[in-house]
Amino acid sequence: MAQLAVVGAGYVGLVTAACLAKLGHRVICVEVDESRLNGLAAGEPPISEPGLAELVREQLRHGSLRFTGDYAGVAESEFIFIAVPTPSREDGSADTSHVLHAVNSLIPHVRPATVIVVKSTVPVGTTDRLAAMPPLLEARIEVVSNPEFLRQGTAVHDFLQPDRVVIGASSPDAAARVARLYSSIEAPIVAVDTRSAELAKYTANALLAARVSFMNEISHIAAAVDANVDDVARIVGMDRRIGPAFLRAGLGWGGSCFPKDVLALAAVANSNGCRTPILQAVYETNELQREHAAKLLLDAVRTIPGPIVAILGLAFKPNTDDVRGSPALGIAQHLLAEGVIVRAHDPFALVNASRVLPDVEYSEDAYSALDGADAILLATEWEEYYDLDWILVRESMRGKTVVDGRNALNGVLLTDLGFRYWSFGRATQSNGNGTGPHEGPMDSSPLGGATHTNGNGAVPREDGFASALDFRGAVAE
Ligand SMILES: NC(=O)c1ccc[n+]([C@@H]2O[C@H](COP(=O)([O-])OP(=O)(O)OC[C@H]3O[C@@H](n4cnc5c(N)ncnc54)[C@H](O)[C@@H]3O)[C@@H](O)[C@H]2O)c1
Repeated sequence: MAQLAVVGAGYVGLVTAACLAKLGHRVICVEVDESRLNGLAAGEPPISEPGLAELVREQLRHGSLRFTGDYAGVAESEFIFIAVPTPSREDGSADTSHVLHAVNSLIPHVRPATVIVVKSTVPVGTTDRLAAMPPLLEARIEVVSNPEFLRQGTAVHDFLQPDRVVIGASSPDAAARVARLYSSIEAPIVAVDTRSAELAKYTANALLAARVSFMNEISHIAAAVDANVDDVARIVGMDRRIGPAFLRAGLGWGGSCFPKDVLALAAVANSNGCRTPILQAVYETNELQREHAAKLLLDAVRTIPGPIVAILGLAFKPNTDDVRGSPALGIAQHLLAEGVIVRAHDPFALVNASRVLPDVEYSEDAYSALDGADAILLATEWEEYYDLDWILVRESMRGKTVVDGRNALNGVLLTDLGFRYWSFGRATQSNGNGTGPHEGPMDSSPLGGATHTNGNGAVPREDGFASALDFRGAVAE
């Protein structure tokens, strides 16, 4: 059992703190946000993550987990995990100021020979730069990289049953000490140098994002040649060299990590003289999906006075209340700017979404959001949307357009019920077409006139990646 501190009580910090307490360590978690802190002390996590609230309350009761707003609380700790945000700067590079601030704040309190463990996703070289800070060198404090690979929505599970634990250290002793903290977890421990650990984290996220963007590109080809992208994904996913994960076409990726990490990796590459055409295409292809969905919706409602679009799902993916980088909010923002009335439902993310986009009409019930709508966008594939009574929905709607942003609905059934069903490269038996109704505007141009080379008049952004609609604006901090 070790005495640990975790700085930051968000998706990574709180899960790390609660899980390390569960593994038998004594953990103190330092959080600067007072309202978060008050909730946590009462056993109320500020984020929604399956199993997390129960785990936090259990560990609080056992006395293995405590929360504080005072950095002096780290004084007894042998290991201090840093899990604070590293958001995108305007130029796409990662802003490490929260990490620096956290480390500077704990320096007056930290005892000699403590190990600082960087869990935040940081640009390559950050761990080494922290380790070279004179006060840390003087106190023989080692800094180790221990990137986190958990997924929101299954964070507790992923932390306790990871595919691997990565430890990047410049001394074998520090690596071994950190490895021992995870000794009761059954997973390979991969000990490498700090820079490889940092780069591996960015590479994993960028590669996952690339798989999705690649399939999204294939979805437009499938639509153009009357093939079904779902079948294509199933077939290629059965190839053991490829595997089935992250091959579903749709609105693309969002969240707090993929967008910023793809940009940050490109920024690290560019500042080291490396070109990144693949990363650029991965990012731009993702943005095209949102533009594509927004255009489908606008084309469907353009001639209607007081058009209403209902969005099902606001979280960037199911089983989280996180709306950071959510495709749904980016599209909602664009529709609002075009004068569309936007209604939205989400089982968990209404509060977070309303902080970012107050002009959306939020509904606690999916059916009320859909009542009288001209078009629907399924943006997050929450399980409850699979069970909607579509006959009821059809009767209550004013229009009949459904844009299935996650290729998740039964397109054949919806078409048979009289909906105009649009998907991303899925053939529906009733119309035999790859992406939606034959008469639709996208038939002639699956990419809606947008091209990968910015041929739609998009302006280059400061981060160097071009975009007609910068949906990164819809990010809750
Ligand atoms: N969210 C994920 O799924 C995920 C997965 C892997 C890695 N990461 C990385 O982990 C890091 C944290 O991400 P997150 O999603 O947990 O962020 P978050 O925004 O959910 O949480 C960060 C927390 O840190 C607190 N904080 C900020 N500055 C602080 C300071 N100086 N001292 C104490 N507390 C401070 C904030 O108040 C907040 O509660 C980022 O680098 C991210 O890229 C995130």
